[in-house]
Amino acid sequence: MRTKIVAGNWKMNLDYFEGLNLFNEIVTLIKQEVTGKQEAIICSPYIHLHALANLVIDTEKVSVGAQNAHHAEAGAFTGEISAKMIHSVGAEYVILGHSERRQYFAEDGALLTKKVDIALAHHLTPIYCIGETLKERESHKHFDVIKKQLVESVFHLSAADFSKLILAYEPVWAIGTGVTASADQAQEIHAFIRKEIAAKYGKAVADGITILYGGSCNPKNAHELFAKHDIDGGLIGGASLKARDFVDILKAFN
Ligand code: 13P
Repeated sequence: MRTKIVAGNWKMNLDYFEGLNLFNEIVTLIKQEVTGKQEAIICSPYIHLHALANLVIDTEKVSVGAQNAHHAEAGAFTGEISAKMIHSVGAEYVILGHSERRQYFAEDGALLTKKVDIALAHHLTPIYCIGETLKERESHKHFDVIKKQLVESVFHLSAADFSKLILAYEPVWAIGTGVTASADQAQEIHAFIRKEIAAKYGKAVADGITILYGGSCNPKNAHELFAKHDIDGGLIGGASLKARDFVDILKAFN
């Protein structure tokens, strides 16, 4: 059985106190309502990480993660945050390769390779995001794009390291747009990702890896998405900023 996960990506939202309040609401609802084995990960801005990590010590169902990390070990990179620093405050995950970072911060495959390596070196689990733009889908390049994003930034890993990853398929055209990939569209890509992993690392590795769907996922569509064979949960943007919605999505597994 693969681990079922719903991860919230708060992006650049919520000041420190708003973040703490939302997190407390989420943890309270999870403790009251979530009885299954599914797990939640909250990826907050750096500012919140230490406080949030201290709040989850008594629950195994919730972990915290960062939304980015610098690719170097340490040094003269004013304003940046290293994987080692993130791990030192109790965070366990880091989102890497999000389309907003690829688009607005020019993060490419070579840079993301370094980020994946340094995150693993500091015992952070990368949540590695892949996904095509609308133009790429309309020109029928989506399978090629997804494969390239896998090959260039995570297929250099050993099978043991690759198995530590969480993958997230986030079609760029579905992020923050209210347009969700249909459950069938998402399943088609998730199955393709798993097939490519099987070809590279074998069936056991492919069958064991958690692949999340992200892009306008909400309490209404989560159930249908999560019911698909190769969809193991979600990476949630907008709906992760409302405790009720986020926890309802977490409860949307069969
Ligand atoms: P939305 O859920 O707001 O579409 O964002 C998805 C996302 O980018 C999560 O990383």
